[in-house]
Amino acid sequence: MLAISSMRNTDKCSVFIFLLLGILIHVISALDYVPTDKILLNCGASPETTDSDGRQWTSDINSKFALGGGNSSTSPAAAQDPSVPPVPFMTARVFRSEYTYSFPVASGRKFVRLYFYPASYLGLDPSNAVFSVTAGPYTLLKNFSAAQTTAALNYAFIVKEYSVNVPAETLNITFKPSSNASNSYAFVNGIEVVSMPDIYNTEDGNSMLLGQTTAFIIDNSTALENIIRLNVGGNDISPAHDTGMFRSWFDDSPYIFGAGYGVTIAADSNVKIEYPTGMPTYVAPVDVYTSARTMGPDLYINQNYNLTWIFVVDSGFSYLVRLHFCEVAPNITLINQRVFDIFLNNQTAMNGADVIAWAQHNEVPVYKDYVVLVPPGAPQHDLWLSLHPDVASKSFLYDAILNGVEIFKINDTSGNLGGPNPVPAPKQDVIDTSLVRPSSSGQSKNQKAIIGGGVGGGIAAILLVGLFVYAVFCRRRQGKDSSASDGPSGWLPLSLYGHSHSAGSAKTNTTGSYVSSLPSNLCRHFSFAEIKAATNNFDEALLLGVGGFGKVYKGEIDGGTTKVAIKRGNPLSEQGVHEFQTEIEMLSKLRHRHLVSLIGYCEENCEMILIYDYMAHGTLREHLYKTQKPPLPWKQRLEICIGAARGLHYLHTGPTLDHTHVSTVVKGSFGYLDPEYFRRQQLTEKSDVYSFGVVLFEILCARPALNPTLPKEQVSLAEWALHCQKKGVLDQIIDPYLKGKIAPECFRKVAETAMKCVADQGIDRPSMGDVLWNLEFALQLQESAEENSKGVGGMDIEENSFDKSCKGKKDPNASPVFDDNEPERTLRLKCIAFATGC
Ligand SMILES: *[C@@H]1O[C@H](CO)[C@@H](O)[C@H](O)[C@H]1NC(C)=O
Ligand SMILES: *[C@@H]1O[C@H](CO)[C@@H](O)[C@H](O)[C@H]1NC(C)=O
Ligand SMILES: *[C@@H]1O[C@H](CO)[C@@H](O)[C@H](O)[C@H]1NC(C)=O
Ligand SMILES: *[C@@H]1O[C@H](CO)[C@@H](O)[C@H](O)[C@H]1NC(C)=O
Ligand SMILES: *[C@@H]1O[C@H](CO)[C@@H](O)[C@H](O)[C@H]1NC(C)=O
Ligand SMILES: *[C@@H]1O[C@H](CO)[C@@H](O)[C@H](O)[C@H]1NC(C)=O
Ligand SMILES: *[C@@H]1O[C@H](CO)[C@@H](O)[C@H](O)[C@H]1NC(C)=O
Ligand SMILES: *[C@@H]1O[C@H](CO)[C@@H](O)[C@H](O)[C@H]1NC(C)=O
Ligand SMILES: *[C@@H]1O[C@H](CO)[C@@H](O)[C@H](O)[C@H]1NC(C)=O
Repeated sequence: MLAISSMRNTDKCSVFIFLLLGILIHVISALDYVPTDKILLNCGASPETTDSDGRQWTSDINSKFALGGGNSSTSPAAAQDPSVPPVPFMTARVFRSEYTYSFPVASGRKFVRLYFYPASYLGLDPSNAVFSVTAGPYTLLKNFSAAQTTAALNYAFIVKEYSVNVPAETLNITFKPSSNASNSYAFVNGIEVVSMPDIYNTEDGNSMLLGQTTAFIIDNSTALENIIRLNVGGNDISPAHDTGMFRSWFDDSPYIFGAGYGVTIAADSNVKIEYPTGMPTYVAPVDVYTSARTMGPDLYINQNYNLTWIFVVDSGFSYLVRLHFCEVAPNITLINQRVFDIFLNNQTAMNGADVIAWAQHNEVPVYKDYVVLVPPGAPQHDLWLSLHPDVASKSFLYDAILNGVEIFKINDTSGNLGGPNPVPAPKQDVIDTSLVRPSSSGQSKNQKAIIGGGVGGGIAAILLVGLFVYAVFCRRRQGKDSSASDGPSGWLPLSLYGHSHSAGSAKTNTTGSYVSSLPSNLCRHFSFAEIKAATNNFDEALLLGVGGFGKVYKGEIDGGTTKVAIKRGNPLSEQGVHEFQTEIEMLSKLRHRHLVSLIGYCEENCEMILIYDYMAHGTLREHLYKTQKPPLPWKQRLEICIGAARGLHYLHTGPTLDHTHVSTVVKGSFGYLDPEYFRRQQLTEKSDVYSFGVVLFEILCARPALNPTLPKEQVSLAEWALHCQKKGVLDQIIDPYLKGKIAPECFRKVAETAMKCVADQGIDRPSMGDVLWNLEFALQLQESAEENSKGVGGMDIEENSFDKSCKGKKDPNASPVFDDNEPERTLRLKCIAFATGC
């Protein structure tokens, strides 16, 4: 048996990086799979590029792999959505006729990943790109429209993953426009070919086709397409943290049916996963096995519902469903403690599943493969995976557990994997297609920005205030109805694999009750009937997002005059009740024009529902960089930060929060997290101050907190800004747009405040109260400088402006900072604190 080193054995540096990612990774690199072939082709790009995972891509220009044979050219995307990673999506190769890439590889199975971002290339209309892709004898895509697929799924881009066996030593991948029309073309942004071990075959003959008694054999002649890969009850796992095959694993919560989320078992570093003899350690990462989802503690509730995930698949294909299990609850060590049934599409896949019986031991992983045929019919079909306690076994608990899911489409008899393009749902206008969760095998890296649970999660939540500072322009619409850009940017919507299902139809039977202590004097009470009317009976088409606390819908109250966001708590979540009350108490006091405001609540029928002012669109980040939007004027940036600082100050000093559980769940983002956290494993209010300091640098420099594509010393904004300040050249890295518009004394004050916020030691950082005071002072400096100079056009930031007490230079000819149209826009900052998972 191979024991896996626990966190304690890993070196400090890795701990640092993993915690930064908010994911506890057990280092097992020595036991990872080592691919012989690892080809990353960034089509149309410059020779060497690095993606956000640090992987090196090479260009296909003059590449030995590009056999060509057709009429092709390369082009950058006409517009790059800020949510789309630049590598490999910034550029594409466009094919006017059949074109082949030929990869000399070792024989054996390969993962082939195709990256598509349906922007306009060479001025062509993305909807005219309808094409097929073949790999060896297999058709991977047929009559494929990336534009239609992403529109229907609400993704910005899409990554398709296939597994094909290469018998000889060449893999040919061919792109071909589907029609002969002159405007028809094919394109691709990136191609990845990585060797993989043959871990998905069913040649042992133990995997039956559901409903039949014959084994379904997946062997060397079978090609597979990955449909989904989930780390159930856990965090996203990026390709770099897979076991050497660069698979992406995603949080499963968006796929859960209704409100029956059950209860998750979080990864615990005391759990030491031991892989059984004969099971390669690279089948799935340790993190998949250390976290899990169970049904919950209440045996009566559990008997009355199914823990169900729903996936949308193409009809007329068979699917391989691999379920990963590992019993990680500390006190479940014996057979017949947790026994359950597994259903696929309402058919029994397994009766009396008992993970301990399978694995012989707790903390030992095991996986089971099932093959299910989805008969032809409507183009797309739901694939249901349900777990239910096996009451007949009279087990100790009535509960179920699942740690991971992988689903693959199996090629049909003609070697085809291509299905019809999904058709966009009619009611798309509520969702901003530009900022949504991308990728077929999943979701964007910033998936954690999904609107989450209650604010009352303590400092972990407060930290996130600094991370999710939302700025909103509510442009008054002039005769223009809501457009795609009208949606809730930054609120990643629920995966579309859940679109047609109503949360209202959840088969949960909650009997829980709680003592109400809600401050009815503080906000409005709504009846459940009002909420149902406002959300069209919880119409999933109105879903804005989903998170630990529950689902968030867009709705209208007061006869359609007020747009609101309605957060419906998950009735099964015990913590939910506490969070619910804290959130109401806190947010109802926290009314500020820069903060998202709570309008009211509903607590009928054991429902926990919160009603907020509808947060319109646009993140602060979006208004700062990588955007087509006009740059945000300096004063507005400052006002946003003052609003956020006020919110944080209030949270630090106002409500009495339960701070005890804070350090256990940290979902920080790379680039924002307090370095002291890594030394002390504890988050404090000063951690928020640190994060806030990074945000201040973001508004000054208009660049992301982390930009892995920059030279090493510049990757982290906080570090780079500190470095520049020491050299006295901070003014050289500020947003060029601000040059001449920011009063030097104001700049000096803000920069100084930001510096202090990101001090290495928490003790050296100011309190949020001090920060707030300093920013308000900075705003006054700006305002008086503007008055004095009547336009501040000449406000150059001079070198060493730190050491000078500068006065704005007067320039009567300078243009004003704010153009007269500015009042057209009302800027509102939204601080959203998402306590995802705590
Ligand atoms: C390639 O296709 C474009 C657009 O159809 C056409 O204008 C061009 O002449 C073609 N070039 C060649 C070499 O066929
Ligand atoms: C499948 O392919 C692999 C590598 O090409 C080879 O080692 C293995 O023997 C093949 N298996 C069968 C059953 O053909
Ligand atoms: C090909 O896809 C397009 C766009 O989805 C669709 O309109 C057309 O009917 C499809 N053609 C075939 C033959 O499936
Ligand atoms: C790959 O494509 C090239 C060019 O079309 C062809 O010469 C070669 O035979 C193909 N190889 C395989 C294995 O199909
Ligand atoms: C495209 O052109 C080829 C050869 O010119 C022809 O055989 C084929 O029928 C045409 N396809 C369509 C859809 O027009
Ligand atoms: C395991 O421990 C939890 C909490 O300590 C308890 O609720 C549960 O009943 C225990 N389960 C068993 C099988 O003892
Ligand atoms: C499974 O059963 C549910 C409830 O009866 C039904 O809504 C759903 O469509 C069924 N799913 C499939 C795939 O048959
Ligand atoms: C759970 O799912 C199975 C299979 O679809 C179904 O027969 C059963 O009635 C469901 N149980 C509940 C409580 O919904
Ligand atoms: C998959 O495609 C291969 C090649 O066309 C074929 O031999 C095999 O039978 C197909 N598999 C299934 C399950 O139809």
